[in-house]
Amino acid sequence: MRLLILGSGAREHALAHRLAGEPPVSHITCAPGNAGMAAAGSLAAVSLSDPAAMLDLAAREQAALTIVGPELPLSVGVVDRFLGAGRPILGPTRAAARLETSKVWAKQFMARHGVPTAEFQICDSEADADAVIASGRLGWPLVLKADGLAAGKGVVLAGDAAEARAVARTMLSGEAFGEAGRRIVLERCLRGQELSYFVLSDGHRAMPLGSAQDHKRAFDDDQGPNTGGMGAFAPSPLCDAALEARILEAIVHPTLAGLRAEGTPYRGFLYCGLMLTDEGPYVIEFNARLGDPEAQVVLPLVDEPLLPLLDAAAAGSLPDRPIRIASECQVGVVVASKGYPGTYETGKVIEGLDRASALEGVTVYHAGTALRDGAVVTAGGRVLTVVGQGRDFRTAIDRAYAGVAAIQFEGKFFRTDIGRKAIR
Ligand code: AMP
Ligand code: GLY
Repeated sequence: MRLLILGSGAREHALAHRLAGEPPVSHITCAPGNAGMAAAGSLAAVSLSDPAAMLDLAAREQAALTIVGPELPLSVGVVDRFLGAGRPILGPTRAAARLETSKVWAKQFMARHGVPTAEFQICDSEADADAVIASGRLGWPLVLKADGLAAGKGVVLAGDAAEARAVARTMLSGEAFGEAGRRIVLERCLRGQELSYFVLSDGHRAMPLGSAQDHKRAFDDDQGPNTGGMGAFAPSPLCDAALEARILEAIVHPTLAGLRAEGTPYRGFLYCGLMLTDEGPYVIEFNARLGDPEAQVVLPLVDEPLLPLLDAAAAGSLPDRPIRIASECQVGVVVASKGYPGTYETGKVIEGLDRASALEGVTVYHAGTALRDGAVVTAGGRVLTVVGQGRDFRTAIDRAYAGVAAIQFEGKFFRTDIGRKAIR
């Protein structure tokens, strides 16, 4: 069976690496892919914002199933395009992906269906925003969110009214995020610990993939600027069976049922970004895909063939049973280029990749890497995710960092405390 994987991060490498080892898979095309994905299949250039080009590629490569990694192709309707042409693809339609692509739509959807989320107000003018800010009725700090995709930078916590007004103005004027900020969500700040929870849905059923925790800030002890994610671990010790049952009952099932009732059933991976408050789990945000780096620690825990599940989800026929999840720990450390998430240099030769991969319980997934004259070089901000596996978190952390230590390149930068939160 031939597959096409869309994307070029460590999340997509984790998918390719896993699926390459499953017997029915005969070939994987990765588009655009990276140097690591070249080892799991072949690479093809494609624009992830061009649905027609992605469909052409899938036809040319005779892909029996296409798997969408990132949100960009979803936001431009790649799934609608494939379905219109009768070509199997795993991911939500453009309408269902609004859970991620429009924070305004997602908040209104949650309100319609009683899904617990922070109290909010939608504003499309400075006058509206100023009135809400002046009233103080959503408390302080106040959370301001740009409606559209903003590469993870569209959320600001403002400490007082002056700051909130200034942030609202830069968003609404288009200065901060262009069209994505022309409408904003003002919402109450939730308190508690953050947890990511994942399911695979076929539109009706939801098969739980379990929980993970991300590390969004650039530096140790959650300091410094926000990033795409500097590391993750799974499963989260915060998530016991009772909490998992509550997440499914209060959040996942009402969300999938609501989308079905509105005529836009959701197929694909659903990422629930949650705050565990004193009143139970609340949705901070949904993502219409797996997380990165969460996928790199969640996928290895799937203790049965993955391809049949992806295939069934795309076809709307997932079995009515839980996925087998291994009882072990995974810790993924992102190795980045110095300067990330700001400016950084690329083209640095990476050494020690084979040595790291040869270590027991260590897997190296590529993100911003490229091949140059036979050498693997850096080509992005997040360069690799080094994952350590173990029976306990101590072992998984030690293995991940042994892998990180084996790899060298100029400007190598990583957090040294990934997974520490999991050890109590
Ligand atoms: P996002 O870019 O949507 O993932 O949001 C970035 C981060 O902002 C989240 O991971 C949370 O830490 C924080 N955040 C977003 N909304 C809220 C909220 N209502 N209360 C507290 N923190 C929030
Ligand atoms: N790690 C967060 C995300 O993928 O959005």
